Amino acid sequence: MGSSGGRVGERVRAHAPGRVNLIGDHTDYSGGLVLPMAIDRGTTVDLERGGERVRLTSSADPSPVDVAIGAATPPATVEPHWGRYVAGVVAVVDPPVGGSGTVSSDLPIGAGLSSSAALEVALALALGLTGSSLEVAQACQRAEHLAVGVPCGIMDQLAATSGRSGHALLIDCTTLTVTPVPLPEPAEVIVVPSGEVRALATSAYAERRAQLEEAAAQLPRPLRDVSVDELEAVKDALLRRRARHVITENARVAACAAALGAGDLATAGRLMVESHTSLAADFEVSTPALDRLVDDLLAVPGVYGARLTGAGFGGCVVALTRPGVGRRQARGWIVRAAPGASLV
Ligand code: GLA
Repeated sequence: MGSSGGRVGERVRAHAPGRVNLIGDHTDYSGGLVLPMAIDRGTTVDLERGGERVRLTSSADPSPVDVAIGAATPPATVEPHWGRYVAGVVAVVDPPVGGSGTVSSDLPIGAGLSSSAALEVALALALGLTGSSLEVAQACQRAEHLAVGVPCGIMDQLAATSGRSGHALLIDCTTLTVTPVPLPEPAEVIVVPSGEVRALATSAYAERRAQLEEAAAQLPRPLRDVSVDELEAVKDALLRRRARHVITENARVAACAAALGAGDLATAGRLMVESHTSLAADFEVSTPALDRLVDDLLAVPGVYGARLTGAGFGGCVVALTRPGVGRRQARGWIVRAAPGASLV
C-alpha cells in the first residue's frame, strides 16, 4: 500500500459506491459474517492535485472543507461535519501534495447506506492511495475511527472497495475474505428510508460493541465459534441476548448466502425477517418506525423478506422482492449490485 502522489496540476476523478447490507448486522466487529452489496449510487470526488491543503466543495453543503496535509492526526474540530472524514482520510493517506475539487453524491447522507465510507474511499483513491481492496478498506476504516471516533467494523469500506456487479459479497470478518454470491435474476433489492435521523447511532453503537466485548470475555472461545448453548457462561441476561443475536445472525448470514446461491429466494427472505426480529429483540437497535416499515413491506405481495439495514436506530429498511415490486412503491429505490470503487 502507498500513496502515488501524482503530478501537480493532474486532474483525477474517483468514484466509490454506497452499500446496502442484505443480512448480517452488528457482526463485523466481532469477526463474524456479513452479506452486503455495493450499490449503483455513490460518491464521486474530482480533484486537481497541487498545494499543501485539500480543499473540497460539496453539492450537498454550501460550506467548503479546507484541511492541511502533513498532520498525523486530524485536527480536533473540523467544520462542516463531513470535513472530519476528509481530515481522517488526509491523515491516513498522508499524500505528498494536496488538491482542490468537488464532491458529488447521490447517496442520502446518514441513512445507513454508507455515505461516509463512500466519501472516504473515493477521496483516498483521488489522493493517490494504492493497494489491494482490503488495504484501501482498512486505511479508510482507520480514517473513520480517527475522524469521528466511531469504532466501526470493516464491512462498509470493504463493500465499497470490493463490489461486484450482479453479486452480493459474503465477507468473513475473521479471515477478511470476500466471496461474491450471485444474486438470482428474478429478484430485486429495494431500499426504503424510514426518514428517522440516526441520533443515537454513535453512542449506542459504541455501547453495543462494548457489551459484546464484555460477553466475549466470559466465553472460552471467540463469539464466532461458540454455540447458543454455551452462552450460559455469560451471567448477565442483557449481555447474553446481545451475544445471542451475533451467534444466530452469523448462522443466518451463511444460510442466506447459500439460499441466494441456490436461487431459493423464499428462504433468503425468511432469514432476513428473522434477522430483523433478532436485531429488534436481542440487539435492540430497531425503532417503531423501522418495525412498521418492515411490517408494511411484508404485507406487499412479492416481498420475500425485509429488515433494517446497517447500524439501526433509524436509517433504511432493505427488502428482497420479485421484479416490479419496487416500481409500485411510493417511497424508496430499487438498487442494483455495482462494482467497487475505482479511478474513472
Ligand atoms: C455500521 C458500521 C459497520 C457495521 C454496521 C452494523 O454501518 O460502520 O461496520 O458494524 O454498522 O452492521
